[in-house]
Amino acid sequence: MARTALVTGGSRGIGAAISKALKAEGYQVAATYAGNTEKANAFSEETGIKTYKWNVADYDESKAGIEQVEADLGPIDIIVANAGITRDAPFHKMKPEQWKEVIDTNLTGVFNTVHPVWPGMRERGFGRIVVISSINGQKGQFAQVNYAATKAGDLGIIKSLAQEGASKGITANAVCPGYIATEMVMAVPEKVREAIIGQIPTGRLGEPEEIARCVSFLVSDDAQFINGSTISANGGQFFV
Ligand SMILES: NC(=O)c1ccc[n+]([C@@H]2O[C@H](COP(=O)([O-])OP(=O)(O)OC[C@H]3O[C@@H](n4cnc5c(N)ncnc54)[C@H](OP(=O)(O)O)[C@@H]3O)[C@@H](O)[C@H]2O)c1
Repeated sequence: MARTALVTGGSRGIGAAISKALKAEGYQVAATYAGNTEKANAFSEETGIKTYKWNVADYDESKAGIEQVEADLGPIDIIVANAGITRDAPFHKMKPEQWKEVIDTNLTGVFNTVHPVWPGMRERGFGRIVVISSINGQKGQFAQVNYAATKAGDLGIIKSLAQEGASKGITANAVCPGYIATEMVMAVPEKVREAIIGQIPTGRLGEPEEIARCVSFLVSDDAQFINGSTISANGGQFFV
């Protein structure tokens, strides 16, 4: 039977490209979203991928949502923790709520997504975790103390999970995208976007599908020996 993959934030942007790529690889895919039901419905209609609405920042909601996905599609073998937000402000202007919202969604959201599924993966002796981190978790970014903290935290999570899961057939890896042409990036003022592109040696934004292809590889059987690693997909903008 086909393996089941859960992609959080899988209805839009990078997540949507990942959901589609995994479906094309033959996996059963469940995609989650936070509140944009119109986009999620359009995505389901276009792709035939079932969407589920819950807030990854809430543990009980995540657990209940995951139970529903497993009731519908069977045990989850693959998690792509992709849901994420920005609430940018220079540190001296950053409000505690901006800090908390980003930490709760981008960092605690990963815990809330992986933790309910982890015992089942251990029992079944197979699992694939991929967390979508960011170039800005690797290098930091002006006005993103909150966001960079979560994305750097993701790398701590996967390195630790890799050590705990390895003997149980579970791998945990991260992809650090550079700047990708999604609504998140297209929402920044054009002048800022042009300045960003000027810093990318490849001379363009990345495409969501370029991140999806990294994920397809990391969740495959061929990637069993790759564990605790980070793939940087950023057009040569930053080297670790
Ligand atoms: N775009 C980039 O250049 C870039 C670069 C590096 C890293 N990343 C990372 O890649 C991931 C995807 O980014 P993107 O640009 O594709 O984002 P996006 O287009 O804004 O889409 C975000 C997705 O996450 C969902 N989401 C947001 N908050 C959620 C919550 N609390 N609970 C459940 N789902 C939630 C959204 O649901 P709704 O549709 O309901 O809002 C949507 O499906 C993020 O983790 C981001 O930090 C992006």
